[in-house]
Amino acid sequence: MHALIVVSHPDSQSLTHAVARSFAEGVAESGAHTAEIADIAAEGFQAAFNQADRAAYFLQKPLPSEILREQERIDRADALVLVYPVYWWSFPGQLKGWIDRVFSNGWAYDEAPDGTLGKRLGRLAVHLIGIGGADGGTYARHYDKAMRTQIDHGIFDFCGARVVTSEFLLDVNGQAAASHVVTARALGGNAFAKAAPGGIPLSEVAEELPG
Ligand SMILES: Cc1cc2nc3c(=O)[nH]c(=O)nc-3n(C[C@H](O)[C@H](O)[C@H](O)COP(=O)(O)O)c2cc1C
Repeated sequence: MHALIVVSHPDSQSLTHAVARSFAEGVAESGAHTAEIADIAAEGFQAAFNQADRAAYFLQKPLPSEILREQERIDRADALVLVYPVYWWSFPGQLKGWIDRVFSNGWAYDEAPDGTLGKRLGRLAVHLIGIGGADGGTYARHYDKAMRTQIDHGIFDFCGARVVTSEFLLDVNGQAAASHVVTARALGGNAFAKAAPGGIPLSEVAEELPG
């Protein structure tokens, strides 16, 4: 099994990158599995959804080559892992733009002429690791449901991908940072062993949403 770990952070010495590397090491240590890190900041991924993306969205033009390359590396993986700092209750803008552009109509999902939605990422396991400055109590009270509804359900459930891990590593300005790197290694070690979705059941949030 192979994991593609996508990281969006400008500093390779950051906690976010350390967590991504540790997750990758955990995967490698867990048996006959492999992991690669896609550092989309270092690669200079252009996050803004553009005219060419829009034409592809309406199925009028083929996808831009840089988007096909991103989709191909996801297609080569069994698991997609997103490691990101929480910015304003969500992904950093670059990672959100990566989703906007890469999770395209016709690849991540499609719509039949009768309006029926096709979920096309059913084969993909997803692991989400958000790194945040606030503490666990604040996340339990405010962030957990909001972010999991928006990200786990709004993006991945929409496309049929299975969210296996949905974790927040928090309170990064306190003593917790070092333990997060250890936790990430354990999460990587379990990446291909876990079957059940983490976090709140998606069925719970789905009931409250129109989509
Ligand atoms: C623009 C920006 C927005 C942020 N918004 C949040 C937030 O909404 N919630 C939170 O818990 N932390 C927030 N933080 C704190 C970051 O999540 C935290 O600094 C980061 O995860 C630390 O990881 P790093 O050392 O790898 O950068 C924000 C930080 C920045 C720079």
